[in-house]
Amino acid sequence: MKNMTHIIWYDTIDSTNNEAKRLLPELASGTVLAARQQTAGRGQRGNSWSSKPGNNLTFSLVLKFGEGNIPDVRPDCQFVISEAVALGVKEFLSEEGVVASIKWPNDIYVGDRKICGILIENTVKEGRLTSSIAGIGLNMNQDTFPPDIPNPTSLALQTGRTYDMEKSLVRLLAHLMDKIGKMETAPGELKESYLEALYRKGEKHKYIDFISGEEFEGTIKGISDSALLQVESEDGSVRGFSFKEIGYII
Ligand code: BTN
Repeated sequence: MKNMTHIIWYDTIDSTNNEAKRLLPELASGTVLAARQQTAGRGQRGNSWSSKPGNNLTFSLVLKFGEGNIPDVRPDCQFVISEAVALGVKEFLSEEGVVASIKWPNDIYVGDRKICGILIENTVKEGRLTSSIAGIGLNMNQDTFPPDIPNPTSLALQTGRTYDMEKSLVRLLAHLMDKIGKMETAPGELKESYLEALYRKGEKHKYIDFISGEEFEGTIKGISDSALLQVESEDGSVRGFSFKEIGYII
């Protein structure tokens, strides 16, 4: 049996990631909880995730490692999940004729605008990665955004078309499960494709070092084995940043 998914649609829920956490023990691997409206959608860094009800895809995909066709992933290799999910979204967008890049660790950008946010929440028990809740917010039909959302875009704004959420989700999941299957069979390919798609790679741009508060110019060189963002400063030194340590100035 290929990597199967089973979709449960909610009209309204606080957050599909919260619901997935609550139901985790009873959910099979491959279950997808999708919401037309989230009342407390969560983003990275403790931010909220705003989405106009019925306009966008907001869902969580539950993976249970070692169950079904989901292979075990070593806890120190868990970045491969980010790679797979980000590349699945990128490929879905590409099928719609939109070229997207991946802003490390897993935002999806079109040009300098964010089209999709991903919140991956993993559980490690006794040194083993047991489950992952991959929460995805993909802007589909929304054409105006609250002013406090930095540089947003949507698929409709990019293509001028209107999308059906249910059909789109099925197509997106096919791409996601294809990439997730590669976590075992072709992790090197995922890493390579991720690096190829990396937003701002090899270009000089401005960043903020959240530790020192300093603004600096740097060039993204790649991702270290421990999933740090490697940025070369003007003096030629390369430093690895964790997610909490660096901000992009866009
Ligand atoms: C981010 O870019 O900050 C991540 C946003 C993740 C949003 C999605 S929407 C579906 C799922 N449920 C949540 O509460 N958050 C994720």
